[in-house]
Amino acid sequence: MITNTPTAHIIDGIALSQKLRTDITARASALKARGITPGLAVILVGENPASQVYVRNKVKGCQDCGFHSVLEKFDATMAEAELLARIEALNNDPAIHGILVQLPVPKHIDANKVIEAISPLKDVDGFHIASAGALMTGMPGFWPCTPYGCMKMLESIGYDLKGKHAVVIGRSNIVGKPMALMLLQKNATVTICHSATKDLKAFTLQADVIVAAVGKRDVVTADMVKPGAVVLDVGMNRNDEGKLCGDVDFEGVRQVAGYITPVPGGVGPMTITMLLMNTLEAAERAAI
Ligand code: GUN
Repeated sequence: MITNTPTAHIIDGIALSQKLRTDITARASALKARGITPGLAVILVGENPASQVYVRNKVKGCQDCGFHSVLEKFDATMAEAELLARIEALNNDPAIHGILVQLPVPKHIDANKVIEAISPLKDVDGFHIASAGALMTGMPGFWPCTPYGCMKMLESIGYDLKGKHAVVIGRSNIVGKPMALMLLQKNATVTICHSATKDLKAFTLQADVIVAAVGKRDVVTADMVKPGAVVLDVGMNRNDEGKLCGDVDFEGVRQVAGYITPVPGGVGPMTITMLLMNTLEAAERAAI
């Protein structure tokens, strides 16, 4: 007998990105007609292979949307003071509306100092404490791109978070913590779980929305998901065959969840799209 297994709707990050990038390109073109081209500076220090792929994709995203972009690559031995001086020059460069220093930076450079050196007006990564404070207090500011992309994915399926229980797994400054604040701002009840959480499954089974942002595969399996829940997978891992996979056991969880994001092709493309959106908004604000 063939059983009819329920299968989750897939939230396609590539398709949603394309839709949003069409709008971004149109807005950039309107700005260009006024003599302003959105400009992003991407700084890479050292030769981390994953970072090289990320920065290439960010620059390509800029080109596709008609933005001006500069990629500045520096040797891993670059002095911290030299990097801070570069950031200061970009802070004062009117052709640049967004500045991004790809993390991680080499150990001799203090990442916090680097992040705080970027003008909050150009902090399109949303990592500056002024951006974090703005998000926390509901003031205007740049939102970190990955959780912002997750919010756009929820919006794309018309999901109303009011009164829903969202469980965020992971408490990083880049994803987990800002994700929780964004969900809270939309009136969800939010639980943050992390490496010291006891009985993760007890929390995830209560969740209407699960955001997995740990960086370890199979953190969320089918037995941990309430039927119909929305599962957003922020993970970027490799399985035993070297294939890209997320934090969620996709094949298992898709049999239980209502909606799920794949890896690759889910949250990943959305991160760059939201970076482009932030850069566009920085340029639009500068144009007022
Ligand atoms: N390293 C990993 N993710 C990110 C990101 O979103 N921005 C920057 N600047 N570095 C990263």
